[in-house]
Amino acid sequence: MSDKVKIIIDDIEYEVPAGTNLVDMAKWYAGNDIPVFCYHPKMEPVGMCRMCLVEQGSIMKDRETGAVVLDESGNPQVRWFPKLQTACTQTVHDGMVVRTNTEVVETARQNVVEFLLTSHPLDCPICDKGGECPLQNLTMEHGPGASRMNYADKMHLNKHVPLGDLIFLDEERCIQCARCIRFQDEIVGDDVLAFHERGRRLQIITNTDPGFDTYFSGNTTDICPVGALTTADFRFGARPWELTEVPSICPHDAAGSNISLSTRLDREFGGRAMIKRVMPRQNEYVNEIWISDKTRFGHHFTRSEARLTKPLIKKGGVLTEATWEEAMQFAADALKSGEVAAIAGGSTSNEDLWSLRKLVEGLGGGQLGAWPPTHAGADLVAQVGVGKGTNLGTLGKGDAVLVIASDLEEEVPIWRLRLKKAADRGVYLVVANARKTRMDDFASATVRYDYGQAAQALQNLDADVAKKLKDAGNLIIVAGAEGLTLDGSRALMQASANFLIESGHVGKANNGLLSPFPGSNGMGLHY
Ligand code: SF4
Ligand code: SF4
Ligand code: FES
Repeated sequence: MSDKVKIIIDDIEYEVPAGTNLVDMAKWYAGNDIPVFCYHPKMEPVGMCRMCLVEQGSIMKDRETGAVVLDESGNPQVRWFPKLQTACTQTVHDGMVVRTNTEVVETARQNVVEFLLTSHPLDCPICDKGGECPLQNLTMEHGPGASRMNYADKMHLNKHVPLGDLIFLDEERCIQCARCIRFQDEIVGDDVLAFHERGRRLQIITNTDPGFDTYFSGNTTDICPVGALTTADFRFGARPWELTEVPSICPHDAAGSNISLSTRLDREFGGRAMIKRVMPRQNEYVNEIWISDKTRFGHHFTRSEARLTKPLIKKGGVLTEATWEEAMQFAADALKSGEVAAIAGGSTSNEDLWSLRKLVEGLGGGQLGAWPPTHAGADLVAQVGVGKGTNLGTLGKGDAVLVIASDLEEEVPIWRLRLKKAADRGVYLVVANARKTRMDDFASATVRYDYGQAAQALQNLDADVAKKLKDAGNLIIVAGAEGLTLDGSRALMQASANFLIESGHVGKANNGLLSPFPGSNGMGLHY
């Protein structure tokens, strides 16, 4: 069977991969943005909002001969569905015919927008989503232009409802698309949100104590197509058009999640540039469009009044403000006066580490230390680390991942998120640790060992488990250092490297060793 199908959209024929979602296909191949609210390309379609209605039909074929049936003018005859169909729930198939630009489609879109607005507040001027709101945009594009509803009759619901410490819900703005619930369920595997009540009173609630108990809650505010979900961090903090986006990388862990820092010259910050929020920056190889709450909300240290902005020199036991020239001279004199050593942390960049090494060596010192000093094997990662082009999002059935001596949800939450999805796609996921971790919930097999015995546990894996790992099409080992001494960590990293080399899983994409070194550049620091 061909993996391509022919489909006609608005009278133009396209040849596209079989099995593609119709909304995605229209966007990618025809540049046709079918409007959606509940559909999200990262999640299963549910067909809840009806915004994506289109006319749909199929080219008729003679049942006996398979020949295309032609009309009187010699054109292929189309059998149309009697009613409009939701595009987001359709998968393209050969002979599919779709119309997205007819009057009946435009009327349907207008009606859906009008219906949604019957129970929507007039909050745009003060709504955090204003300026980047799909409902606002689609109302401008497809809405009726005037309301037939009496504003005084609108149903009023609760605003500023805390779902947890980090996220607030505005019940009036919710259009009940379930993106937030589905994200937590499908992508994260934390069943922390639900619908409550029915009809117009239907609302999002959290069903955990503490509320919204997950490490990934902030993503729901990104994918909520309205301003119903906002972060405690950013709400009422700035308007989107005031912000300058600065591309960056998460400073907190080894994933290197791509982020964008939304900054503004802020009066409350003395007129200086202030990080108002952290947003994900799409990188399908690294973090797709997701970030953990640690990445999103762990930026307030940049505003701390306790940060040093001027150098201090200790004079007579008292730290005294100095100019940069004085401080540099003082440091240079001190460095020349004796033996030099340096200790660096895991968030230091390669460039700074290189300069530090040159400085220490230039001054005749050889002592370079890393903090924390518990995680070995960076040299092995450099040799048998995952190959170029590795993408956890492309692992699937027949592939395997072993996570050992690591609590990934705590150490690198984005790897935990992506490996959960990999397991959903059929990846054989083995989780080995001295204790239960959240990763166990997504594992195909779990292994327990005594603290400190990680390397031995890997060498003595149950034969079935070991065979499945070795025989996998692609194999990645994520080896951490939890509960290990520096020697124990080195032994585990060596055992992991050996396992990968012996089973032929090195030197290519989606194969090799990964390690959750602490900090954003623990690997560079320790290597
Ligand atoms: Fe306006 Fe969108 Fe906010 Fe609704 S969610 S009040 S349409 S900006
Ligand atoms: Fe959809 Fe937002 Fe309501 Fe969740 S809160 S159902 S994402 S509109
Ligand atoms: Fe298709 Fe909501 S986007 S029904």
